Amino acid sequence: MCSGRIDISLILKALELGADGVIAFGCSKGNCHYIKGNEQAEKNFDKAKEILYLLGIEPTKLKLELISPDEPWKLKETITSFITQLPNNSMTK
Ligand code: FES
Repeated sequence: MCSGRIDISLILKALELGADGVIAFGCSKGNCHYIKGNEQAEKNFDKAKEILYLLGIEPTKLKLELISPDEPWKLKETITSFITQLPNNSMTK
């Protein structure tokens, strides 16, 4: 229900299972229904990126974007940009 509930282990598990990357969306700053869930999500993604870096895996495989419901164009733009920058992604082959 909230991006703050996306645990680091869940993010890393997706990669372990073969995902090319992991992208998640959360509410824009100040608009999380659970007050600070999006701030927690940012911390979780930052920590997951640090773990990837230490493992020698490109941290750009992970992305968290905080958007507002009145920015639907940003959703498509962000997903497209994320997919195209992924190395070995299966979507652009
Ligand atoms: S409800 Fe928490 S980020 Fe949207």
